[in-house]
Amino acid sequence: MKILFLDHSGVLGGAELSLLDIARYHRDHCLVGLMAEGPFKTLLEQERVPVQVLTNQSIAVQRDSSLWQSFSNLRQLFPLIVKIAQLSRDYDVICTNTQKSMVIGAIANLISRRPLVHYLRDILSADHFSQANLRIVVTIANVCATKVITNSKATQAAFVAAGGRAELTEVIYNGFLPERFKTSPTQTTQLRQQLGLEGRFVVGNFSRLSPWKGQHVLLEALTHCPNNVVALLVGDALFGEQEYVDRLHQQVAELGLHDRVKFLGFRADVSELMSACDLVAHTSTSPEPFGRVIVEAMLCQRPIVATAAGGVLELIESNLTGWLVPANDAVKLAHVINECQIHPEAAAAIAQRAYQHASQAFHLDGTCQKFAQLLASLVIEDLSPYDKLSNGAKIL
Ligand code: UDP
Ligand code: GLC
Repeated sequence: MKILFLDHSGVLGGAELSLLDIARYHRDHCLVGLMAEGPFKTLLEQERVPVQVLTNQSIAVQRDSSLWQSFSNLRQLFPLIVKIAQLSRDYDVICTNTQKSMVIGAIANLISRRPLVHYLRDILSADHFSQANLRIVVTIANVCATKVITNSKATQAAFVAAGGRAELTEVIYNGFLPERFKTSPTQTTQLRQQLGLEGRFVVGNFSRLSPWKGQHVLLEALTHCPNNVVALLVGDALFGEQEYVDRLHQQVAELGLHDRVKFLGFRADVSELMSACDLVAHTSTSPEPFGRVIVEAMLCQRPIVATAAGGVLELIESNLTGWLVPANDAVKLAHVINECQIHPEAAAAIAQRAYQHASQAFHLDGTCQKFAQLLASLVIEDLSPYDKLSNGAKIL
């Protein structure tokens, strides 16, 4: 079965890293079509996944665009739509990975008429989308998608609450290869030395810098912790949130935290850095759809504290496999950080339990199997009864 994946982004967000894991599994019979150049393309090439950038025109549908603006932007994208329509004739199924790629892919698919699977990775709510864009996404998914995969039950529930058809949906969690998160204790000690972290209690935050990822909450929490507690902020502003980055630096200056906060920017060595932390803090201020960093911390055998909302509630059982704290609550976050520092054995036991849980519940093999089965069933359903009989064996 040949799969055409579509993603509008060229940067490495969680949606793209998750697509990479799935596309790697299908690399002999897929193409990833991107709508921007960037590090995502480079990484796909490194992993020998066929990739093509389909346009050099940027897709400027903003969060607060009106319905009309969104459509007029799409009108400018006519050549891209035609290109996808032509390309998709060579594929059995189209799988879109972002809202923008879903809208464009669905329009192209009016011509090519393939089963269209949308991998919905965002919580569709007013926190992240204008009413107009919400309506466009939900309507197009309802009318044009053969299936809507969601990355958590929370994402699924939000889709249905926004008017999405429940019967289209199926939850498939992100999957991970546990062996990719193993690091040696020597490497960890060296990294801590290089970063000047010896003798410190290190709290890591591994998210792109964006207001809703809540790095400011962690900075505030530091003011309620002893001076040996420091924060590593790993990640960059991927979608133009430079103003927030400036605010974070300003907050560090105002709170006198210069020697307690390190901004490391976007890093490719996340598992090594996580292993060098004493605790990983996830601080999103709006419900996180899934939260790859949470499972990654578990696989690095590091204790995790996270915001109690969205898909996170499906990942962590509080006090058993991590800790949950309310969104925007720097005092409660600081309390967990301090407890974790005072009781390292209890924290290590929680991290161990989380590791066991995550290596089974979120293994990439399970994710890829579910995904492949779903696609195979759709392609079979799409055939005429005669074709099913003659082609069934070949497709499966
Ligand atoms: N990540 C990374 N380098 C960084 C910061 C983050 O590779 O400097 C990765 C991180 O390991 C995770 C992904 O980016 O796999 C973020 O995914 P998540 O689902 O946590 O959040 P998203 O950014 O997709 O909302
Ligand atoms: C999106 C979500 C994130 C999720 C990722 C992978 O980027 O914001 O929560 O983990 O997709 O599905």
